[in-house]
Amino acid sequence: MRLINSGISPIHEEGLDGLLRKNISAGRLRASTKLEVAIVNADISIIAVGTPFDGSEIDLSYIRKSASDIGMCLKLASAYHVVCVKSTVVPGTTTDVVGPILEELSGRKIGQTLGLCMNPEFLAEGSAVKDFMDPDRIVLGVSDQRAGKLMSDAYAPFCCKDILITNPSTAEMCKYAANSLFATAISFSNEIANLCASISNIDALDVMYAVQLDRRLSPIIGDDRIRPGLMSFLLPGTGFGGSCFPKDVKAFQAYGQKNGHNMPILHSVLDTNKSQPDVTMKLIKAAIGDLRGKHITVLGLAFKPGTDDVRESPALLIIKMLLSCGALVNAHDPVAMNSAKEVLMDDNLNYYNELSESILNVDALVLVTSWPEYKNIELIEALKNIPIIDGRRFLDKQKFPTYFGIGCSNF
Ligand code: UDX
Repeated sequence: MRLINSGISPIHEEGLDGLLRKNISAGRLRASTKLEVAIVNADISIIAVGTPFDGSEIDLSYIRKSASDIGMCLKLASAYHVVCVKSTVVPGTTTDVVGPILEELSGRKIGQTLGLCMNPEFLAEGSAVKDFMDPDRIVLGVSDQRAGKLMSDAYAPFCCKDILITNPSTAEMCKYAANSLFATAISFSNEIANLCASISNIDALDVMYAVQLDRRLSPIIGDDRIRPGLMSFLLPGTGFGGSCFPKDVKAFQAYGQKNGHNMPILHSVLDTNKSQPDVTMKLIKAAIGDLRGKHITVLGLAFKPGTDDVRESPALLIIKMLLSCGALVNAHDPVAMNSAKEVLMDDNLNYYNELSESILNVDALVLVTSWPEYKNIELIEALKNIPIIDGRRFLDKQKFPTYFGIGCSNF
């Protein structure tokens, strides 16, 4: 709390520190541990707590606790109040779990002095500030018209053309469906990539590029081709990670199963994703053989560039596998080093602050996160003599005599 009130973001997120400082000094934002004061003086409370997946369903204990705390505070006031769920929760949670807790503890009735809203977040880490300030869509799943009006008014300054007002369960489903589509695009590309790699003389990068150039995916308008963001998900790689895609797809698949739907596509999406770090390991072994005693640099620890988040990062899985095969690992990341050190320490793992030092005298280099600065390694002469394993198809394969890329059948 003290960190936030002094304008310092506890996470690495572009633009967030500046935004915190600006609004704290203008008196518009203050972090507090005094829940009662915060709730009673507000028109809207937003629940944005974690919903970890325990293997069979999402853990709603933090949601329940927040709803109870808010409900008890609301008992002390009488003005109309909307409670908005931002956390990713399976359909029915807002109406069937949060609503009843709030009604019971606040003594209020939904539709009278209490409104309920489910408002999924569509922020991607690294561009969260931009995604919030300039939203592509706002989904408001509301209990009634009055709650919808208050929530729409709150979002009015963001001038979003596409505000979908619906019911809470539909809003909950939107988030899972959206994340599942992108995760599916990634696993689809990796399935194709793995097939390409097993057949001589096929490069999945060219294949996926040709797929992307279909005008129904990348429209041609006049002389220009539009390259929608989805295209960057249709590429070969070591698989998706982060705090959302893996957890949400697993939770969605389990939710489907519970409701009598096996969700075979999502099963396969997860299976393919699980195997991608192994695919990268196979490439490394194909490149340098026995890993015992070999010095290997892993570039990139964050689950994607632009963040210090290492949750479900393929990089950490690959490092663990390298270590278990007896390799000596040098690791580098421009911002995620400290987060990685918190979860992964080993006598045979050395973290390097300097990229140039991390790649000195090593037997192979593995790129797992496509940080823009790693493009510069294409210019380093010494790297022309060692195998380069590109887990993101980020480097120009022509620049390295011994290049091994996911989806690339060059060995
Ligand atoms: C995701 C959703 O994009 C966001 O809308 C939702 O609110 C939360 O989950 P995030 O987890 O931050 O956001 O990451 P995202 O940028 O979507 O990346 C997820 C995975 O997809 C990463 O592992 C990344 O490597 C991969 N990815 C990402 C791509 O393959 N291509 C991209 O262009 C971006």
